[in-house]
Amino acid sequence: MRLFVIDQQARQIELNDVSAPTLMLAIRDSGLDITALCGGCASCATCHVYVDEGWLAHLKPPAEIEDAMLDVTDERRPNSRLSCQIKLTDDLDGLTVTLAPSSAFV
Ligand code: FES
Repeated sequence: MRLFVIDQQARQIELNDVSAPTLMLAIRDSGLDITALCGGCASCATCHVYVDEGWLAHLKPPAEIEDAMLDVTDERRPNSRLSCQIKLTDDLDGLTVTLAPSSAFV
């Protein structure tokens, strides 16, 4: 699987041969600047990403806990998601996301 991640400096990074179970793990394992403080429990919002508009329809809507955590961030947009809650399946090959400012280590 292939993913495209735009980092906080607006650089697009292509991740190839991704086998991680979630988007957060794929980003973190690639060494990009994502904090993911809670390790994927949907309780920190430091894995916040913006999903490319064309990919939104491919994702399940956020669960209640994810929606509540996104509300905590200052930079929420209609395409905001917690990357730890996005399970990587074959139909997401080519998914493109942008790291939110709040996902960077603080
Ligand atoms: S890693 Fe903490 S909410 Fe995703």
